[in-house]
Amino acid sequence: MKLWGGRFEAETDQLVEEYTASIGFDQRLYKYDIEGSIAHVKMLAHSEILTLDERDKIISGLEEILEEIENDEFEFEIGLEDIHMNIEKKLIDKIGSVGGKLHTARSRNDQVALDMRLYLKDQINDIKALIQKLQKVLLESAEENIDIIMPGYTHLQRAQPVRVSHHLLAYYAKLKRDYDRLIDCYKRTNVLPLGAGALAGTTFNIDREFVADELGFNKVSQNSLDTVSDRDFVIEFLAAASTLMMHLSRFSEELVLWTSQEFDFINIDDAFCTGSSIMPQKKNPDVPELIRGKTGRVYGHLMQILTVMKGLPLAYNKDMQEDKEGLFDTVSTLKGAIELFARMLAKTTFKQQKLEETAEDGFTNATEVADYLVEKGVPFREAHEVVGKTVLHCVKEEKKLSDLKLKEWKEFSNKFEDDIYKKIDIKTAVDTRNIIGGPAKKEVLRVIKTEKEELKKD
Ligand code: ARG
Repeated sequence: MKLWGGRFEAETDQLVEEYTASIGFDQRLYKYDIEGSIAHVKMLAHSEILTLDERDKIISGLEEILEEIENDEFEFEIGLEDIHMNIEKKLIDKIGSVGGKLHTARSRNDQVALDMRLYLKDQINDIKALIQKLQKVLLESAEENIDIIMPGYTHLQRAQPVRVSHHLLAYYAKLKRDYDRLIDCYKRTNVLPLGAGALAGTTFNIDREFVADELGFNKVSQNSLDTVSDRDFVIEFLAAASTLMMHLSRFSEELVLWTSQEFDFINIDDAFCTGSSIMPQKKNPDVPELIRGKTGRVYGHLMQILTVMKGLPLAYNKDMQEDKEGLFDTVSTLKGAIELFARMLAKTTFKQQKLEETAEDGFTNATEVADYLVEKGVPFREAHEVVGKTVLHCVKEEKKLSDLKLKEWKEFSNKFEDDIYKKIDIKTAVDTRNIIGGPAKKEVLRVIKTEKEELKKD
């Protein structure tokens, strides 16, 4: 028996039933559906559309259903299409025809928009907490590794020496923006859709503000057609999630590179690696590889929902049921990725000797030499040319800049004096870059301190 069966003479085709049902995946919204229904029914009584007795009967029926679902005693039926109808039908079976009053002044179109918003608000809060967990690990690791210098890269060519902590804090900064994007997305998710009805509101004198207060929404939507046709909040969340995954993916890529024998910069704990079925020596960085890989599916979900929405006339269309699986999958993919990344990073160690040897190799201090000449009055362009020649000389002679004798330096410019050796020391090179946002120890420590305090505030 369908809740909308009145208009129909023939039974729904079995395949159509299976094809149109969303109960297989929207059952995870049960908690929000019930929470929304309870708030709705309280409002109906408050607005004198239902009696207090009817309200109480409906609420206790819904509470029983909640318990049954949580105890795995509820049987979801595909013939009842979705979570909304499964619960409503069960309510009527339980408490009789008074259960049929629950859907007064409501449509599944505003109901599903409500459930999705309640769900996403919770998920955003969970994900924000996970981001902070990862940020905390980043700060701890930055503090722990504060004295380790590493090569910084552009074009994946050694460029200038930086501090490992500085590199870690680069990701911290990216995560901070990800966090902000979620706060922003939350603001637009935090708007009550209920009351928009199927598309044109309701003739009942309902109190939408009351429902908003009950459910913790800080605004009420202002156009019923927009409300039931809007999935911007899902799109925004998926865009923020894609950006976050992109960041984790880049970091993962670096961990994969750094753990290779070619780089050999870090050690990822055995607990986060796996072996090979054939090559006994292998220790593979599967976790960062998989995080990098799963980024693709999150991008896919963003493209999917954008594409679903692009051709839809107002207001609700069944196409919009396709908003769910991608969102649910994104939420679990994202949560898994952040959680694992935090745990893995906490157990990742940096190989100081290798990192510093590498930072000293590859002329990462060449800019320092040019700056040295500039300090002695040589225009930067000329200095660049002189140092370029000096480097070429070293490449041919298979020497480092620090191997050059003062006599050799003087062949390139008579401005070079004994103090050049101090200038090109990589520790000096890093610590004299003490501008705001630079890699100098003092500056990095300042950022760690400020961010620790920020994290504590939340
Ligand atoms: N299962 C539907 C969805 O997820 C609920 C809304 C259905 N509304 C309707 N008029 N068929 O979108």
